[in-house]
Amino acid sequence: MSTKTVTGQNVSIWSDIEMPAFAAIGRDTKTDVCVIGGGIAGLSTAYLLCKAGKTVALVDDGPLAGGMTQLTTGHLVNAIDNRIFEIERLHGERGVRLAVESHTEAIDRIEAIVREDDIDCDFERIDGYLFLPRDQSQDVLDRELDAAHRAGLNGVKKVRRAPIRSFDSGPCLMFPRQAQFHPLKYLAALAKTIESCGGKIFANTHASKIEAGPPATLRANENTITADAIVVATNSPINDLVAIHTKQAPYMTYTIGARVPKGIVTKALYWDTADPYHYIRLHDIRDDNGHGEQVVIIGGEDHKTGQAEDTVERFDRLEDWARERIPELGNVEYAWSGQVMETIDGLAFIGRNPMDADHIYVVTGDSGMGLTHGTIAGILLTDLICGLENPWTMLYDPARKTLSATPAFAKEALNMAAQYVEWITQGEVKSIDDIPWNSGAIMRNGLNKLAVYRDESGRVHQFSARCPHLACIVHWNAAEKTWDCPCHGSRFSCFGDVINGPANKGLTPAD
Ligand SMILES: Cc1cc2nc3c(=O)[nH]c(=O)nc-3n(C[C@H](O)[C@H](O)[C@H](O)COP(=O)(O)OP(=O)(O)OC[C@H]3O[C@@H](n4cnc5c(N)ncnc54)[C@H](O)[C@@H]3O)c2cc1C
Ligand code: FES
Repeated sequence: MSTKTVTGQNVSIWSDIEMPAFAAIGRDTKTDVCVIGGGIAGLSTAYLLCKAGKTVALVDDGPLAGGMTQLTTGHLVNAIDNRIFEIERLHGERGVRLAVESHTEAIDRIEAIVREDDIDCDFERIDGYLFLPRDQSQDVLDRELDAAHRAGLNGVKKVRRAPIRSFDSGPCLMFPRQAQFHPLKYLAALAKTIESCGGKIFANTHASKIEAGPPATLRANENTITADAIVVATNSPINDLVAIHTKQAPYMTYTIGARVPKGIVTKALYWDTADPYHYIRLHDIRDDNGHGEQVVIIGGEDHKTGQAEDTVERFDRLEDWARERIPELGNVEYAWSGQVMETIDGLAFIGRNPMDADHIYVVTGDSGMGLTHGTIAGILLTDLICGLENPWTMLYDPARKTLSATPAFAKEALNMAAQYVEWITQGEVKSIDDIPWNSGAIMRNGLNKLAVYRDESGRVHQFSARCPHLACIVHWNAAEKTWDCPCHGSRFSCFGDVINGPANKGLTPAD
């Protein structure tokens, strides 16, 4: 079986690491727990279950950590990116304390694993700085400071400016003991430990059919895995057609990296409160002569997946924004983008799957905090599967009802419904000749629409533009050369292979 296309055309700064390779499944398998998905959520869960004495089989239909985890920027934070005061408003004082506590514990757990397993993954404790865009009132910082203290983050304080030499950020909040790491080095080590503890990992193994049982079963390639519990850690759940996907929305986010002389930017994490917000970190690299250098990684320019025409220009805007604040920035050497799932109430969904609660577990709604949410999933799901109580169970419950009547919910529902109007609009081009080489466009074909890609040699690859999930029309993403669905975030390579769920198969080829 060939390796699937895992992301768009751009690779991230982490891709210099070769992940351990694993064979595809070759026979039927019985295990205590089957985990689907080898990103940080799936691998953390498999790792902690193995440590708790469970037998585990993990399947991924690409290479390990080939999904959104390889596109991350690797901030590990408890400074919740939807704002602590907002989480307090939505989940109450106890809820926000638990949320902050869970992200803090996730960072602590990663640090403990790094120390115990002696993992060389550039893990570092550093401070984080939250600053304002030019036009925003300091009121936001004051509210956040008060909410952070109420939530138990007593070390957060207001400081005069962030430690970037050329950029006067103005007053900002300093969050102590945040962290950063090299995500793939960390996950490569987790995978090796899972294997050495007797866990099985199968790469290039596509999960196609999940049945709740008991016993729960998974159809994986041509084989069946039978398990007491199945954990769906595919980032966007592939087992749930509608319920969870109406409570979260997919957003693309963009990242660039460029060298910067040492001493210009203090090693720390930086975020602003703009909407969409910007995020910055440093990463140490070595030049060809082995000398240490620093790359500054800047992210932002988020938009709803499949709903922006200017995907390429977003990298330029990010560069302009960064260069204005850090004029010493070298040439942009890295540029990539990926997707996060934003839930309507700001917290991930982690726990028993609402439809078949006894044996199927799910983790999704990563937001910009998927690394800590993925680690929280490892801790929480291990407790649930082992029959232990966990104080975060209700907070992250995928069936929680809190907000289905909020304006945020109504807005996302309307936005999604509006996408179906494209079935009656014209195509973007009238003829294949209008599509430049190495580009794609939507064409009308009678009652149907086609997603047409002309490759670098002018060859045409055409598919039904109908998303196999719930039939929205996909859009061309010029930055990543992918077909992106504006409804729930399924994404497909230019050759029609599925990259992101909830769709669990590719676009249908058209003659
Ligand atoms: C540009 C960018 C920057 C980010 N920065 C940060 C950050 O600084 N801090 C932070 O906390 N978060 C950040 N995030 C979010 C975070 O990186 C992600 O939320 C997190 O890595 C998601 O992990 P995951 O395990 O849920 O999903 P993934 O890493 O996507 O893993 C899911 C896996 O499931 C597999 N899969 C899917 N379908 C199937 C199937 N049918 N059968 C078998 N396998 C399947 C996929 O191949 C994939 O490997 C960022 C995201 C992006 C895109
Ligand atoms: S992702 Fe739901 S219709 Fe495409």
